[in-house]
Amino acid sequence: MTHIAVLPGDGIGPEVAAQAIRVLDALGIDHSEHAFGGNAILAQGTPLPDETLVVCQASDGVLLAAVGLPELEGKPIRPEQGLLGLRKALGVYANLRPAQAEGIDMLIVRELVGGLYFGAKGTREDGTWFDTCEYTRPEVERIAVRGFELARERGGKLTSVDKVNVMHTSRLWRDVVTEMGAERYPDVPLAHALVDSFAMTIVQAPETIDVVLTENTFGDILSDVAAAVTGGLGLAASASLGDEGPGIFEPVHGSAPQIAGQGIANPAAMLRSTAMLLAHSLGRPGDAEALDAAVTSALAESPTPDLGGTATTADFGDAVLRVLDRSPSL
Ligand code: NAD
Ligand code: IPM
Ligand code: MN
Repeated sequence: MTHIAVLPGDGIGPEVAAQAIRVLDALGIDHSEHAFGGNAILAQGTPLPDETLVVCQASDGVLLAAVGLPELEGKPIRPEQGLLGLRKALGVYANLRPAQAEGIDMLIVRELVGGLYFGAKGTREDGTWFDTCEYTRPEVERIAVRGFELARERGGKLTSVDKVNVMHTSRLWRDVVTEMGAERYPDVPLAHALVDSFAMTIVQAPETIDVVLTENTFGDILSDVAAAVTGGLGLAASASLGDEGPGIFEPVHGSAPQIAGQGIANPAAMLRSTAMLLAHSLGRPGDAEALDAAVTSALAESPTPDLGGTATTADFGDAVLRVLDRSPSL
């Protein structure tokens, strides 16, 4: 039987997760909630309890809201380590972050389990603190395959973003992508861009961008920029996929501590992530489309304060469920 592991997390996480759970219930999808992130550190001393990991590994998909508590920022044990640990444990190396608005349809394909996030880090005796950006050829190849395949499926083009003028790992990245473009994907138009000027392109000419292939840290930053030009973090969803096993479906945003507890967080990103779960992991593309359409109509009908409206998180969920109820595919 299909089972979804829900990790509500911290801050606005449980508030937006509650709306996704209403949708799972409406669709008759079995689910359970588990401790993860800052709340798990406070209760159990670890952001990723064994029990949570075991359930996630056995699930058909993980729906994750957000982690992060201001009081744990910079501490030796942090909520974010649980997130990185879960991504690594599930092998979800391909993070798809779509950003759409009128005339804009880009898809950032972010490498998720390598680079600076996972390279050697520490403090040397001389007092130097370091993080290391590391990539192997197979790591670059497998994410590049995702980028090329997605661009091909869309009949689109691929822009690979790196910092080849400075970074050693970017030379590997560019060589591998260039080679694969020529040998395996000659039909997919390929361009390369440097990350600094590409950030500007996202702001100034987002309508010219199609599929973007990039490494972990650049993808983290560029996806917030892409969210900003397409309606904000309240709308930006993502899917994190490996070659097998459950994927993780999570909004791009964090735990937004400034607005947590007020019931005003925008659950659209979470609900769109739920739609990505339906499409990618549960083989329910019709339901995914119906949910996306319901979110779009709720955005017009019941916008939350981040969009200039007055709807609460629950009002938004109500609007989504009203439309879903009417949707013939359910
Ligand atoms: P953030 O994404 O939490 O918030 C950035 C801004 O966007 C804030 O103004 C916030 O109010 C707004 N915002 C975000 N989501 C919103 C929503 N759904 N509705 C309305 N407004 C929304 O980023 P931050 O403040 O830099 O980080 C806060 C914490 O979240 C940190 O601890 C960080 O590590 C963590 N974080 C976690 C994840 C994750 O769990 N996937 C992602 C990013 C950040
Ligand atoms: C994201 C977040 C995470 C990341 C943090 C919380 C570890 O910012 O999913 O974008 O940097 O990957
Ligand atoms: Mn981020």
